[in-house]
Order: sequence, then C-alpha cells, then structure tokens
Amino acid sequence: MALCLVTGGAGFIGSHTVDLLLRRGYEVRILDNLQPRVHPRGKPGFIPQGVDFVLGDVTNRDDLGRALRDVDVVFHLAAYQDYMPDFSRFIHTNTESAALLFELAIADRDRYPVRKIVFASSQAVSGEGAYLCPSCAGGIHAPSIHDQLSARPSSRANLPAAAIHIPRPRPIDQLKRGEWEIRCEVCGGKMEPLLIRESTISPGTAYGISKYAIELLADRLGRRYEIPTVCMRYTYVQGRRNSLYNAYSGVARRFALRILHELPPVVYEDGQQLRDYINVHDVARANLLVIEDERANHQVFNVGGGRAVTVLEIASMMQRAFGSPLEPVIPREFRLGDTRHTVSDNSKLRALGWEPAIPVEQNIAEYTEWIKEQSGTREGLEEAERMMRENGVLLQVER
Ligand SMILES: NC(=O)c1ccc[n+]([C@@H]2O[C@H](COP(=O)([O-])OP(=O)(O)OC[C@H]3O[C@@H](n4cnc5c(N)ncnc54)[C@H](O)[C@@H]3O)[C@@H](O)[C@H]2O)c1
Repeated sequence: MALCLVTGGAGFIGSHTVDLLLRRGYEVRILDNLQPRVHPRGKPGFIPQGVDFVLGDVTNRDDLGRALRDVDVVFHLAAYQDYMPDFSRFIHTNTESAALLFELAIADRDRYPVRKIVFASSQAVSGEGAYLCPSCAGGIHAPSIHDQLSARPSSRANLPAAAIHIPRPRPIDQLKRGEWEIRCEVCGGKMEPLLIRESTISPGTAYGISKYAIELLADRLGRRYEIPTVCMRYTYVQGRRNSLYNAYSGVARRFALRILHELPPVVYEDGQQLRDYINVHDVARANLLVIEDERANHQVFNVGGGRAVTVLEIASMMQRAFGSPLEPVIPREFRLGDTRHTVSDNSKLRALGWEPAIPVEQNIAEYTEWIKEQSGTREGLEEAERMMRENGVLLQVER
C-alpha cells in the first residue's frame, strides 16, 4: 500500500486525514513542527501510535527530505495561518515549503518517488468572492444564496457578465464606519453575493496570496515535471481537535470557549455574514477521494459544506448545544482580513461523487461535546483576541 506523508499531520485537518488514511490501509508518516501557537502543550495525544512521526519544519530542506523519503503521496497541509501582520511568514512557511517539495521531488526521483501531491489551499484565494451589482445589471437581481445553492450550476446563466464584480477587500474607512456590505466600485450601489466558483481569484490577505501562489506552483511545476497535484480550497472547517489557541481556528472556538466560561459569545461586524462551514470528516473524505480519482489530477476544488448560514445562526446553534441562556453580544468590532459573505460552489467536487454529509448543527454539537472534555480552555479564552487587538487587527467601529 502507498506511503503517504501528511505535513501538518498533528493539526486539525491533518490528524483526521491521517486517521482516515490508516483506516483505509495506507501507511502514514507525519511531518510537523508542533507550532507553539497551535500546540502550546506539545504533541497531542490523538496522534496514533503506529505512525512514523517526524518532528521538523516543512521549510527546512533536511527535515522535509527526511520525511519525504520513499513517499508516494504527499498531503501538504502544514501552514502558517493567523490574522497577524507578520506577512512574510505566510509566504515563507506556506509557499516556500510548497516550492521546496517540488525541488526535492525532482532532484532525486528514486529517493522521493512522489506520484501525487495534494495541497491545502483555501477559500481565502477567492477573497471577497463574486457579486452582482443590480444597478449595473439594469435592475436584474441575483437569486438569494440559498436559491443559488439549490439551483447551481445554472444560477448565474441569466446574469449579465458585465455586472458581475470580483471586489477588492472592503476599505478600512468603510469598516470603521460600521458599513459592512460590499459596495460596487463602479456605481457605489449595494451588491448581492454570488456563489464562489473555482475561477474566482482575488486573495485579499497575505495568507490568501500565499495559498494562491501554491496553486500556481502546483499547476505549473506539477504539469512540467509530471507530478499530478490537486489543490483543495477548504472553506471554514469545523470539528474536534481544532486548536483552542490560534485566532484562525474560527467562530466555533470563540463562541464555545466563551459560553464554557459563562460569558456571552462575541460577534464581529453584525453577525449577518454568510459562511459555508464544513465538517472535518467531510474534508478528510474529500482529501482521500482526490488521491484515488485520477480525474482530480491538476485540478483545484472548492471544498465547502454547500449550505449558507450566518454567524449569528452559529451562535444560536452553540447556545442550544450548551443549553446556555447567554445571548450573543455585538460590540461593533471587526477583524482586518475578514470577508463579508463567502459561500463556495462545491459542484465541481460533487461531480466526482463526493457530498458533504454532516450538517452544521452536528458540527457544532460534536465540537461542543469535545471542548467540554478539554483542559486548559481558559488559556485559549482571551489570548487570540488580545494578540489581535495589540497588533491592530481587531478594531472597533468609530462612532
Ligand atoms: N481549518 C480551516 O478552516 C482551513 C480552511 C482553509 C484552509 N485550511 C488549510 O488547511 C491546512 C490545515 O489546517 P488546520 O486547520 O488543520 O491547521 P492546524 O493549525 O490545526 O494544523 C497545521 C499543522 O501544521 C503544523 N505546522 C505549522 N507550521 C509548520 C511548519 N513550518 N513545519 C511543520 N509543521 C508545521 C502545525 O504544528 C499544525 O500541527 C492548512 O494548510 C490551512 O491553511 C484550513
């Protein structure tokens, strides 16, 4: 059976991918440097006994070379992801390591017989996504995101292409006024969100740019050196083992930690942001599908839950899961780098036979049960927010 290397295999998506690979009979090796912001308590207990664990850095040639020896398939999931303004680190960790993988793989094909690489990309490559401007469209409106999800892929067929915009990130002045919705850069009108396709490219952060650069490397070098690659644009992944400590691990962490410590969940912007959350088990299944299906070679896939929910709806689900009376508070804060409404069209991956199987309510219930069993949750409670505030990432509306 093939030997798979999972970089970042001690992390959230990596560890679930490792578990599924083992269940399907693959041999597995992990390369992970146990990044302190993700693992402040060291090596997690959920790493299976029989797995070859290489402690090392994906940006280090010797570490990566050691881990890559005799490997058939690579899942390159290790990454730096956060809201911090240390921009060069995203490029260094995420993009340089992807380039290094190719460097090693083509330098010695006998030593590194890699025949496929799956790269963790992100919805962040699409930035704010795509919007229709009804004024530019002569009064034509987009169907609601919910209707688009049930009607895809034909939902965009009747919309005039000239009125479809790929917006840049919202200007900071606009956010400081508490104006959250995306405005048309041509006429200033209010726009309506469209499902994000794989062709929508507009990364708005150093993280998103680092991931798009990975996609370019994967496509160009993968084709040139005949190493099939697949780039997986995960949306917002939820589930057990998501780090309690880094800011990037999302809304479930933030709400659950607060409710656990009898504090109300704090909602950024106005809580009406639409997201397509996905469960980590569905993501792990998608990861395995693309190594086993050659139709995925040299492709990019959106990997999203296929359902749009607001952040406030997540807060309500979390309240119900905890049986908590604590209502969310909305202090009119926002994070630089957040997007407004981002819901991906997952039909390209579904055409390969994959379906997200776990509803958001179950994600939240599962996560809630897990977090209650964890120790050290108080450490995670304020740390990420404190760092974001100190670094000018978490800001307040100026009244
Ligand atoms: N979780 C999400 O919602 C989400 C969404 C989109 C994309 N992604 C991408 O999926 C991948 C996995 O994300 P995750 O949520 O499991 O993250 P995670 O932080 O839980 O796991 C990442 C792992 O990589 C390790 N790591 C970090 N830097 C490393 C380095 N230089 N060398 C070796 N190991 C290193 C960390 O120690 C950690 O175990 C990442 O590439 C991420 O960008 C995640």
